[in-house]
Amino acid sequence: MKHLPNLLCFSKKDLLQIIKLGVDIKKNPANYSNALKGKTLVMWFEKPSLRTRISFEAGMTQLGGHAIYLDVSTMHNKAKIKDEVKCLCRYCDIMMARVYDHNTINGMMEASSVPVINGLSNLYHPCQALADIMTIFEHMGKDAVIAYVGDGNNVCNSLVNAANIFGMKIKVATPAEYKPLSKPEYWTSDPREAVRDADVVYTDTWVSMGQESEKETKIKKLKEYQVNKKLIGERYFMHCLPATRGSEVTDEVIDSNKSLVYDQAENRLHIQKAIMIALLK
Ligand code: CP
Ligand code: NVA
Repeated sequence: MKHLPNLLCFSKKDLLQIIKLGVDIKKNPANYSNALKGKTLVMWFEKPSLRTRISFEAGMTQLGGHAIYLDVSTMHNKAKIKDEVKCLCRYCDIMMARVYDHNTINGMMEASSVPVINGLSNLYHPCQALADIMTIFEHMGKDAVIAYVGDGNNVCNSLVNAANIFGMKIKVATPAEYKPLSKPEYWTSDPREAVRDADVVYTDTWVSMGQESEKETKIKKLKEYQVNKKLIGERYFMHCLPATRGSEVTDEVIDSNKSLVYDQAENRLHIQKAIMIALLK
C-alpha cells in the first residue's frame, strides 16, 4: 500500500504514469465510470477549500465511488487523531487530508490501513503540482522552463520537487527569508532574473492559510515580487488559486489569454482521479 504525502515518495516513472492516466481520463472519462465502483473516499479538512474538495468529490462520483466530506471542526475535540483514523479505515477505502501541520499527515499514514493523500499541508501540495505539470506538458511540452516568483511555500515546494523529478528547469525568485524548503536548481532574490529565459511564470498567494498573523510583514517583503505585465511579458501565467488579485498578480495578467489558471483547476479533477486509481490498484 502506498500513501502520497509528497512527490518525493514516487519515482519519475510512477509519476509519469499517473499523468498519462490523467490525460487518458480527460480524453475518455466514460471509460473510467466504474473504475472505483463501490469505493469510499474520506476527505479530512482542517482548512477551507474549493478546488481540492470539489475535484476529489466530483472525481470519486465520476469513477463510480462515493466521497465523504469531514470538517474537522465538527469532530470530537478530546479524540486522538490516531484513534479516529483507525476507525475511519474500517469505513473507507482511501483518505485525503488537508492539514495545518504536515506531521498530522505523517501520523495519519502511520495509523492508517488505507492510502492517505496529502491534499495540502504547510509543507507540500503534491496533487496540485501533478496537475500543474500535466498543464505545462499540454501547453508547452516537456522542455518548458518554469519560473516561480513570490513566497517559497507549500505549492512552490511541490512544484520544485516535480520539476526536479521530471528533469525540468525551474528558477525560483523569493526573498532570502522565504526560500522554499525544496531546493531548486537555481534560486535568486531577483524576479526579473528568474523570469528571463522562462516559458511560464508561476506564483501563489503571499499569505498561506495558517500564516494570517504574518500578513503585514509578508505583504511588505513580497511586494517587489508581484507578477504584472511588465515582469511577465508574453509568457504563460500559472497560479494554483485562490489568487489575491492586486497582490501577487494583477488582473491584467490573470485574465490574459496566456493565463492557464482555469486549465490548472480543471486538471485537478483528472489528476485526482488518476491518483486515486493508482493508489487503489
Ligand atoms: N488550489 C487549491 O488547492 O485550491 P483550494 O484551496 O480551493 O482547494
Ligand atoms: N499556499 C496556499 C495554497 C492554497 C491552495 C495555502 O497554503 O494557503
